[in-house]
Amino acid sequence: MADLKVNFLGVEFKNPIVAASAEPTANYENMERVIEAGSGGLVVKTMTDSEAMQKESYQTRWRYLNERHEVCHGKISRTFSFYGRTGLEWRPPEEWAKQVERVQELGKREGCVVIGSIGGTTVDSWVNLAKLTEQTGVPMMELNFGCPHPSQMENVQTGMVVGQDKKLAAEIVKAVSESVSIPISIKLTPQVADVVEIARAVKEAGAEAVTLINRFVGFLVNPETGKPVILGSAGVGGPWVKPLTLRWIYEVYNKLGMPITGTNGLYDAKDVVEFMMAGATTVQMASVVMAKGYRWLKKTISELNEWLDSHGYSTAEEVIGIAAKSAMTYAQMAEYPKEKAVVDHDLCTQCQVCINSCFYNALSLEDDRIVVGDCWGCGVCSCVCPEGAITMQDGPMSL
Ligand SMILES: Cc1cc2nc3c(=O)[nH]c(=O)nc-3n(C[C@H](O)[C@H](O)[C@H](O)COP(=O)(O)O)c2cc1C
Repeated sequence: MADLKVNFLGVEFKNPIVAASAEPTANYENMERVIEAGSGGLVVKTMTDSEAMQKESYQTRWRYLNERHEVCHGKISRTFSFYGRTGLEWRPPEEWAKQVERVQELGKREGCVVIGSIGGTTVDSWVNLAKLTEQTGVPMMELNFGCPHPSQMENVQTGMVVGQDKKLAAEIVKAVSESVSIPISIKLTPQVADVVEIARAVKEAGAEAVTLINRFVGFLVNPETGKPVILGSAGVGGPWVKPLTLRWIYEVYNKLGMPITGTNGLYDAKDVVEFMMAGATTVQMASVVMAKGYRWLKKTISELNEWLDSHGYSTAEEVIGIAAKSAMTYAQMAEYPKEKAVVDHDLCTQCQVCINSCFYNALSLEDDRIVVGDCWGCGVCSCVCPEGAITMQDGPMSL
């Protein structure tokens, strides 16, 4: 059995799996079930003073989409998109704080780290929400600078609207970090040119960690009706986002060395490992839990254990950042030995799919054999070959 414990911001998590701030953490009963499932932590639904964002939760509409971006019925695709809208916590902050306090006590007893989450509308309200959250006893909190919906609403100054404004984001972080003593993690939006730049600004302003990364805004059309799916624009994410999220995790890890909690794009234990290898210490799951239920958390924890065991890792902590550390720059890649396509003629049926997909015109059919000429090493032929007859092997191109 691998040791799944991780230390994040000085707090020990019994495993790195955290239920993200969303409907599974939006009331005491739900959070009780997250805790029962053995989650290492949970982030409570974002407390807010924005009445518009409280009300938006009553307008909630969600759809799982398959790989063709059609609405799923019954079977949820492995590469689903989760498309929809919701608001932030609908109860007023003082009322929500009472539930957070109760769940914090339960989490403490059961060994699940309960993390606060806030979304203010003015610098003062961010500070007030932070103080209220600290009083619940939670050991850390997130500042939600990533919620996509305020960007689509009239005059709602929270979430991604803050995350896109580096100066305002830094001002809020500075004010909050000077007002509370527990560590804060800033949940950023991917909808900026450079996430590292915003992460740097919030780090310099006093943030201890970043949560990478919130969801996108999308727009989906039903061509049969000629209308948008679920009325208009909506938030979008899902397992297909994983490479986009991992890109920011590894860059922030390498460039800023900040503790990171990863979210957006996790499905199973293998994804957890990938997020951690990119540089995340803990990971947060929402949409897959909403599709599969709380038991998915338990399953992911046990599969993470099995994966680490079967790959010779004795602790979860030892995988953190290993892929980020070995990532090359484009300049380093240019110095790296190239590959060349090699055809196994025993497997090859001369179907010529590879020739159709070689845009360097390096492959040809000669005397009933696929011949590799001046291969540039791109690797496309090895992916399209239906027989698995082409592999990429070290070998300089002859150009
Ligand atoms: C229904 C729903 C509600 C959400 N509500 C919040 C929220 O209140 N606060 C927040 O910080 N993130 C919220 N999120 C974002 C999630 O916490 C999570 O970061 C995101 O869904 C990406 O993770 P996933 O790929 O596992 O879904 C919500 C997401 C969903 C799907």
